[in-house]
Amino acid sequence: MATANTTYSGEKIFEGAQDFLPMNGTDYVELYVGNAKQAAHYYKSAFGFQSVAYAGLETGLKDRVSYVLQQDKIRLVLTSPLKEGGPINEHISKHGDGVKVIALWVDDATKAWEETTKRGAESCMEPHREEDEHGYVVKSGIKTYGETLHIFVERSNYNGVFLPGFQKWDTDFNPPVVGLKYIDHMVGNVGWGEMNKWCEFYEKVMGFTQLVSFDDKDISTDYTALMSKVMSNGTGRIKFPINEPAEGRRKSQIEEYIEFYNGAGVQHVALATDNIIETITALRARGVEFLKVPEVYYDDVLDRVGEIDEDLEPLKNLNILIDRDDEGYLLQIFTKPVLDRPTMFFEIIQRKGAQSFGKGNFKALFEAIEREQELRNTL
Ligand SMILES: [Fe+2]
Repeated sequence: MATANTTYSGEKIFEGAQDFLPMNGTDYVELYVGNAKQAAHYYKSAFGFQSVAYAGLETGLKDRVSYVLQQDKIRLVLTSPLKEGGPINEHISKHGDGVKVIALWVDDATKAWEETTKRGAESCMEPHREEDEHGYVVKSGIKTYGETLHIFVERSNYNGVFLPGFQKWDTDFNPPVVGLKYIDHMVGNVGWGEMNKWCEFYEKVMGFTQLVSFDDKDISTDYTALMSKVMSNGTGRIKFPINEPAEGRRKSQIEEYIEFYNGAGVQHVALATDNIIETITALRARGVEFLKVPEVYYDDVLDRVGEIDEDLEPLKNLNILIDRDDEGYLLQIFTKPVLDRPTMFFEIIQRKGAQSFGKGNFKALFEAIEREQELRNTL
């Protein structure tokens, strides 16, 4: 990801996708948080992210601070306000900690802005140059669901540590990585009846294509229901499933999210690993909490998914879920919300051929989420 002078080489694998917005991958994900210093410590200690860059009072900023962390291709930016008032405080007050920016790495940020705004995207940042002694980047941006933004980053003429204005973050505290490799997908929760509107946005404005769709018959338990469509860019490197609540007997987890986030936003970020057993062992040892499916899940799981390379025992002990599609299988697990508001969480996923999203696990998973909702009195 994001090394200087790398050009777009992605091959189109989904015919339905359009070519007007070539993207190399996710550049970074920025969260607005109440206390970036402590959040950075959490993502280092618990998730194995590494210290990369910093901007704040010491670098000339007056009103905010940002920490940049990285693990393999996954880059997180954590930003907090330093003064009262202003858009960052408003965002945190309204939504709690949450994803503000899904930045996309492009070769031409001016063209990315022109092509998307021409197709109806609302601009949040006109194409402009930012520079320092390490070169320049071109940035532009558009609005997506809720108050979430897509920032296009063109960095082929930049070789600094992150972006102009940031300095290297040197620290003696560097906990080891846990094997997280790249962002597999990022899921947006939108309000009642809004799923199709936002899927259309990704299709028409960004040239994505729809991979799969799930309706409330696929995804429902006695209580909860939701609908979901998965949108992907042409190379398959950027996948954005979009969820909306569906009518159930009690409050859907999507409704709970919308209520506490005060609108649409990023529900979960799925992080890929090559060895989920090692990764989850490390994450659990560092205090990351995961949803628990009942033990009976493992009684007949191999009848459902067939043969797998791993022993079942460690998967069962770590509570890792298994699903299969036509192309192979996948292993996945979901954290509890990583914030006090029941909003954002992470998925850890290892793909062994399967390109799907774990449909076979939805029921077991949602029942696990409902048990948590019951404890929060929000079901
Ligand atoms: Fe997911």
